Amino acid sequence: MNESFTFYRGLPRFPLAFLPTPVHELKRLSAALRGPRILIKRDDQTGLCSGGNKTRKLEFLIADALQQKADMVITAGAVQSNHCRQTAAAAVLAGLPCELVLSGTPPEIPNGNHLLDLFLGARLHFADRPQRNQRMLQVVEERLAQGKRPYIIPIGGSTGLGALGYCLAMEELNEQLQAAGEKVDIIITASSSGGTQAGLALGARLCGFTGRVLGISIDNDKLDGAPFQTELSKIADDACRRLGLSIHFEPDEFHVQYDYLGQGYGVVGALEAKAIALVGCTEGLLLDPVYTGRAFGGLLDLIRKKVFTSSQTILFWHTGGSAALFAYAAELEQRIHGLRAELVA
Ligand SMILES: Cc1ncc(COP(=O)(O)O)c(C=O)c1O
Repeated sequence: MNESFTFYRGLPRFPLAFLPTPVHELKRLSAALRGPRILIKRDDQTGLCSGGNKTRKLEFLIADALQQKADMVITAGAVQSNHCRQTAAAAVLAGLPCELVLSGTPPEIPNGNHLLDLFLGARLHFADRPQRNQRMLQVVEERLAQGKRPYIIPIGGSTGLGALGYCLAMEELNEQLQAAGEKVDIIITASSSGGTQAGLALGARLCGFTGRVLGISIDNDKLDGAPFQTELSKIADDACRRLGLSIHFEPDEFHVQYDYLGQGYGVVGALEAKAIALVGCTEGLLLDPVYTGRAFGGLLDLIRKKVFTSSQTILFWHTGGSAALFAYAAELEQRIHGLRAELVA
């Protein structure tokens, strides 16, 4: 056993994250909205080359890769994938070469996460989104034929094993809330490949958290053709199996809001730009254009519609991603330009 492992409920972790991540109140924003108290859990500060939610999942996935004696890792995602950038950084720390299959054609000038992938020494392949998985399998075949032992990390690291990172994170939050005498009614998080929300739901059950976990869907109400909540239940059940727990989740136990899909994945609209600018102007912190900007925009809309009342406490789980901001400079600048006067008034 590699002596640098730690353990969670008997399962090995390869330590990568700066934990516990801070929790604090967004006092200025809560006051400006005259709405519920909003707390934030700063998983944009998990470390690993600009932070984000994948760090926690990768602790379990990289430990598994090392235990299986893999000699490289392969994963896939969008050109601006935070998951790919964090996997590349984790692979550096584990001493494993990393290959990434990114969707689309390589931009002329690398920017955002794509640029960081290059700094981190990852070998990049490009394929159109519908062919991305097939291309990844092709790369795997090629490496196997060369005598390599690749470890494949599925999109977003959202397996039961990866989700354990968020089961543990929920326990971490619960301890922080108890120590501070805080009670949270609703946790809001961006939900895409599902591992974060599935892990949080399991952690909530294990530590007796009485609030609700609400995922704001970023992509779709389907994942690989199956209803998204069915996928969430499968990931959570897989995590339970890994922990040796006979707990089962039903799809309708997961709360997911599908109203904020906008023009599709990675298309920045007014919702995201306004949320990014508002949180920047009131709290001096960065959201990202694809996930947390959309999820926070959804939260603001739900507050506006009085779905959440001023007597409630909401916790926004910041899952990172600000490295992608620079790649969306053109779209964001255009939209933020018109908003500035309104926001600083
Ligand atoms: C910044 C950020 N937030 C949220 C998510 C969604 O997490 P999950 O894929 O576990 O649902 C991602 C996924 O890539 C992400 O990069």
